[in-house]
Amino acid sequence: MTETSKPSANAGTPYGTLPPASPLPQRRPVSLPRLQQMRDAGEKITMLTAYDATFAAVADAAGVECLLVGDSLGMVCQGLPSTVGVTLETMVYHTESVARGLYRVQGTAWLIADLPFGSYHESREQALRSASALMRAGAHMVKLEGGGWTTETVRFLVERGIPVCAHLGLTPQTVHALGGYRVQGKTDEAALAMRRQAHELQDAGASMLVLEMVPAQLSAELTLELPHCHTIGIGAGNGTAGQVLVLHDMLGMNLGKMARFVHNFMQDAGSVRGAMEAYVQAVKQGRFPDNAVHAW
Ligand code: KIV
Repeated sequence: MTETSKPSANAGTPYGTLPPASPLPQRRPVSLPRLQQMRDAGEKITMLTAYDATFAAVADAAGVECLLVGDSLGMVCQGLPSTVGVTLETMVYHTESVARGLYRVQGTAWLIADLPFGSYHESREQALRSASALMRAGAHMVKLEGGGWTTETVRFLVERGIPVCAHLGLTPQTVHALGGYRVQGKTDEAALAMRRQAHELQDAGASMLVLEMVPAQLSAELTLELPHCHTIGIGAGNGTAGQVLVLHDMLGMNLGKMARFVHNFMQDAGSVRGAMEAYVQAVKQGRFPDNAVHAW
């Protein structure tokens, strides 16, 4: 590169508009103690999925506290029929991209990456190897699905310094075993089993728990019962400690029927960042989700 063609420190980038790293973070970095403070103060935690550098940087700028590199990327980015086909290598690639986007803008978001199907099922040691790959890629926390047999895996990872987010209710990696994308925990027996698993996961050290397609009342009860494991709902009503949506869904990038728990925040916003800011405000102010519309 000749001297004249060298980009200046303040030059924009030709593809997308990620700025050069800003000198100082505008907000305090999100950490586990910070999330606990928010929880104790009754402030809702916001989370969106992110799969690439630009969306991650914009979501961070919009004030989204937690970014999830979800294995939903199999469906929204790779065109797979479910999340079952997503590999660890793919998760590492997208986690690195998201982490670079955050680093570029001195982002403050807490970064969670999904352990994909088959990457933690064999043994606790396999789970540690897979989780380490995601942490090396830039994740602050890993997420795994299911309860019961996963409890000892969660304990094993947490004891080794890896923060873990659990995931109960509709667990997409087991969609074939569950028989479809259905609300879980509807019967007394199923609710009892989920309650037992949730308590076991908190006791094992999980500091976050995604509740997907779980009746609003059960999610609200679990939230009160689990003060150190922050419940993050998706189709689980407004009684959880926080909310998560898949990025493409909340931007209305959906050609089919939208799931009941999704709201298109893009329709009244002038920009992607505006849609994300509207989501953050709606969650913080308790306007989203509306139990009468988005929950069971
Ligand atoms: O993979 C994912 O995006 C998820 C969210 C739906 C919670 O697990």
